[in-house]
Amino acid sequence: MENKIQEIKKEALTELENANDLKSLEAVKNKYLSRNSEFNNLKKGMKDLAPEQKPVIGALINKVWNELENLINEKNDIFYKKELKEKLLKEKIDITLNGNYIPMGHVHPLTQTVNEITEIFQNLGFSLAKPKNSPEVELEKYNFDLLNVPKEHPARDVQDTFYCDNLENVVLRSQTSNAQARTMMNTKPPIKIISPGRVYRNENVSARKNNLFHQIEGLYVDKNVTMAQLKGVLNEFIRLYFGQARPTRYRSSFFPFTEPSVEIDVQCIMCQGKGCSVCSGTGWLEILGAGMVDPNVLEAVGIDSSVYSGFAFGMGVERLAMLKYAIDDIRLFFNNDERFLKQF
Ligand code: PHE
Repeated sequence: MENKIQEIKKEALTELENANDLKSLEAVKNKYLSRNSEFNNLKKGMKDLAPEQKPVIGALINKVWNELENLINEKNDIFYKKELKEKLLKEKIDITLNGNYIPMGHVHPLTQTVNEITEIFQNLGFSLAKPKNSPEVELEKYNFDLLNVPKEHPARDVQDTFYCDNLENVVLRSQTSNAQARTMMNTKPPIKIISPGRVYRNENVSARKNNLFHQIEGLYVDKNVTMAQLKGVLNEFIRLYFGQARPTRYRSSFFPFTEPSVEIDVQCIMCQGKGCSVCSGTGWLEILGAGMVDPNVLEAVGIDSSVYSGFAFGMGVERLAMLKYAIDDIRLFFNNDERFLKQF
């Protein structure tokens, strides 16, 4: 029996010597150390041995078995590492190769500006008006009547406003202020909304004017809303949008739906107020219109003006983007010239 064991061991060692990869090693393992191996059969045959032989042979079998097992594991380790290394080398990605260029689109600069301004006002506690309160095709009632714009006001003139040929009283809205009228009609105060969107005016297209542009409307209605709050909110907006507090100027102005009304200028960002071509030498740039909601408007939409007051503002998105990025022609936003769009 002892001889047989040594014989198997010798045979196994030779085969182990010749095994040169994981696969052949696995074969050796199966042949000598598996359940059906000859070695295991020897183990089973032990029951026929003389009692004093059993422990001796048993110990020998275990010793040889463990020796073989250790050798196989050692080799297995070496082969595994070697084969892994070869595999990794073969699969290595050459990152110095030029990739395929896949042109990617991105968000339009005007949309970026709207998103940025929206986020600023959301952080100041304003929420987005419902889309149904801000239609682009609008009744004169919401674009003008409820906003205290008299029938004979020049803004209603067909030279400014686009009317529908075959639908009476239907216009392409000339301002996002229609969102004010609609929101106040169907919402109880407190109201604190902004409403971005497209507006249309029958303008001669030039570097400064397009007949489609974008506005962002803001409206705050509650008890005791004051002009001081309007200033606080808009100054904070200017600081956040331009990245620093800028000198501002509140000029008295007129809008039919606000009283008092103001137009707000910021110091020219190109010349720091010295006067240049961008600000036509004045040192100031107008960025928005605003004011306290006219009590007539509150009453027209069914809000008690003896209890509530409010402020509203409206700003041109193109204008704000042009100021921030020093763009000198509004038409660039609409031509879809990649050389321009790619810069944002
Ligand atoms: N709707 C005005 C415009 O288009 C701007 C504005 C909005 C002014 C709200 C006051 C309050 O010029």
